[in-house]
Amino acid sequence: SISALVDSYNRRHDYLRISLTERCNLRCFYCMPEEGVQLSPNEKVLTDEEILRLAKLFVRSGVTKIRLTGGEPTVRKGVVGIVAGLNELRPYGLRSIALTSNGLALHRRLPELVENGLTHLNLSLDTLDPFKFEFMTKRSGLEAVLKTLKVALESPHLQKVKLNVVVVKGLNDNEVLDFVEMTKDRPISVRFIEFMPFTGNKWDKFKMVPSSDLLQVISEKHLGLERMADETNVTARSWKIPGYQGEFGFISSMSDHFCSACNRLRITADGQIKVCLFDAKEVSLRDEIRKGASDSEILRLIGRAVHGKEEKHLQMEDIDVVSNRPMILIGRASMVD
Ligand code: GTP
Ligand code: 5AD
Ligand code: SF4
Repeated sequence: SISALVDSYNRRHDYLRISLTERCNLRCFYCMPEEGVQLSPNEKVLTDEEILRLAKLFVRSGVTKIRLTGGEPTVRKGVVGIVAGLNELRPYGLRSIALTSNGLALHRRLPELVENGLTHLNLSLDTLDPFKFEFMTKRSGLEAVLKTLKVALESPHLQKVKLNVVVVKGLNDNEVLDFVEMTKDRPISVRFIEFMPFTGNKWDKFKMVPSSDLLQVISEKHLGLERMADETNVTARSWKIPGYQGEFGFISSMSDHFCSACNRLRITADGQIKVCLFDAKEVSLRDEIRKGASDSEILRLIGRAVHGKEEKHLQMEDIDVVSNRPMILIGRASMVD
């Protein structure tokens, strides 16, 4: 029943993000609170079978794109099997199987993931300076991430590779032109992301660099920027430098949110459906499954959650970060061992 995924503002949700784990092999400050997070005990985390059962229900209800996130999704042992299981949902309408990863431990496993059906990869990389990388992530590993990018670009079956750059004032905002230069001879999409507030991440609005400032800097250096057509429901507004292979874009969640076109739902690693990134309200699908619920009972619960989705998130200063989860426990890529 398609209607389970239509909310009261008539938004259809065809994009599901599934967090595979709360663990991570990096510790980026903007994602994980400095004091760490209390990891859910293993028995509270969805099993591979539970994930695939839910994925099938969502796909049969209209989801065409699934993105695997974390924590760092590749630290979950069963990640290849999960991708393979999702690949079997194609006959029901699933078209894209995407992964958001920090790329640290991915270059060896990427070919296997692609062979099993992975179609899209977003890599998180905030700096091209090895010292800054260590400062921002508390680990070394820039070389490994760049290796992953290289392997990704050599994978003919990957349809799209994107780089996610969270821009923080005074830290990496001076590298924006270097990232733009990466699009010269690589068919990638670099996305500059506004720093968002989550519990424990020391957000303040002066650390956030509005996308309009970055566009200004880039257009002073490069004349004749071409604005790319927006795909439906994308979070980024993209541009291209004439003659360059790739493109760059801005995810302006803070200065110009895109909630009215939101088509996303998410499932946390511990099995809660979260209808909005900035809404602390959650419903446990895991408990429902483990009570022995039928598919239609689970779908009813999903439908109720979707129906309760708010029109948009609050102004940045008013977002209730305290009752919401830190990003690492929502679905992102980077933190905890
Ligand atoms: P595509 O499917 O390639 O468009 O990826 P994506 O941008 O949706 O996902 P990704 O995991 O690469 O996340 C990149 C950034 O998008 C995150 O840092 C967030 O800033 C932003 N983002 C992702 N999902 C949401 C959302 O639901 N709401 C808001 N406000 N921002 C989001
Ligand atoms: N603000 C903006 N983006 C964030 N991400 C994680 N935490 C934040 C934050 N506080 C990004 C990661 C990853 C994506 C899924 O979310 O860099 O690329
Ligand atoms: Fe969708 Fe909520 Fe993100 Fe807005 S903040 S785009 S409604 S998930």
